[in-house]
Amino acid sequence: MIGVLLPILSSSRLRASGVRYRRQFSAFNAYFLDSIKGIREILLYNAGENREREVNRRSDLLLEETEKMRYTTTRAGAATELTVSAVILAVLAVGIGLVLSGGLTVGRMILGVVAVFGSFGPVIAISALPGNLTQTFASGDRVLNLLEETPAVAPITDGKRFSFTNLSIKDLSFSYNGKDKILDHISMQLQKGEIIGIVGRSGCGKSTLLKLLLRFWEKESGDIAYNGVTIDEIDTASLLSNVTMVSQSTYLFDETIEENLRIAKPDASEEEIVRACKAASVHDFILTLPDGYHSRVGMLGDNLSAGERQRIGLARAFLRGSGLILLDEPTSNVDSINEGMILQSLKKQKQHCAIILVSHRESTMAIADRIYRIEEGKIYEQCRD
Ligand SMILES: Nc1ncnc2c1ncn2[C@@H]1O[C@H](COP(=O)(O)OP(=O)(O)O)[C@@H](O)[C@H]1O
Ligand SMILES: [Mg+2]
Repeated sequence: MIGVLLPILSSSRLRASGVRYRRQFSAFNAYFLDSIKGIREILLYNAGENREREVNRRSDLLLEETEKMRYTTTRAGAATELTVSAVILAVLAVGIGLVLSGGLTVGRMILGVVAVFGSFGPVIAISALPGNLTQTFASGDRVLNLLEETPAVAPITDGKRFSFTNLSIKDLSFSYNGKDKILDHISMQLQKGEIIGIVGRSGCGKSTLLKLLLRFWEKESGDIAYNGVTIDEIDTASLLSNVTMVSQSTYLFDETIEENLRIAKPDASEEEIVRACKAASVHDFILTLPDGYHSRVGMLGDNLSAGERQRIGLARAFLRGSGLILLDEPTSNVDSINEGMILQSLKKQKQHCAIILVSHRESTMAIADRIYRIEEGKIYEQCRD
């Protein structure tokens, strides 16, 4: 009864309450951390009180869920205790009955009752297991669900390797949901030493095109070929070492500037790092920092402007030494001085690589050799005037 029946009866209820508790717990944690990260916005908009109220509300929900879980585990424990007491009382009653009817001596009866009493210890531990493990199972479920997630595109580990010289896109079509075509029969060529500009209104599919070039999504039809090799046959590691993307805002880890740059090339020498930073017009700025290249990004906090971050991001991409650099609106968050510096750096860098520069601003396009416009899924080469 105690080792098998009760655990089976209580486990489903315990499990459900453990899952609910864990879900509430992680929702609360996420909200609380998010509030800390966004504390500046909260202060600026004087939204502290509302935020606090919501934190308290969620905290109460969590407390409620905690109480429910405790109630369920305690009830399962109480059921065990109750069963033990009832069985012992029943054995005692039967024993007394047998002694009275002369079927058992008093000594044997006491021995029997004590033996039954003593035998519960180990099984009580088993019966307590579902209660003790509720949270463990719920946490385990969450980790397993995460591990079971399949990526949208499987990496290719035994594909062909290449060293970028040219890119050819032919009749490329793509949609996220299989219905609404984001890109519709797009064709384009690019060689080392060229800068191509891509313009188009927000949401027309510029970023999508860059993601397809990195195979973050699988193309629907048509072809993307590097040096004549179709992207679906290229080793993912080789692809990522040949193609580097710089996005709208550069994420810098809370480490030194040098360590942040080294992500692109862990074994880079000091000279290589300095060369990349000079090429990205950020070397002189880094030298003005208290510890130069050894300054910690976290300590600098707001002292790094968006433009400086972007230039560090650019240096990181240059250090990588890829043959093709994709830039997704690299200057949309920066002032015109920084934009000028970034565009100038790109222009100088193009002798070493090919560049695809995406922007919804036409002013950025001054350095491009050719400009394409994406409109309703189609691509048009644009004449300069
Ligand atoms: N992961 C996604 N799932 C579904 N739709 C998406 C996804 N990413 C982007 N989209 C949609 O695809 C269209 C093109 O997006 P995007 O390439 O980011 O545009 P752009 O960079 O030109 O502003 C938009 O309508 C956008 O909402
Ligand atoms: Mg975009």
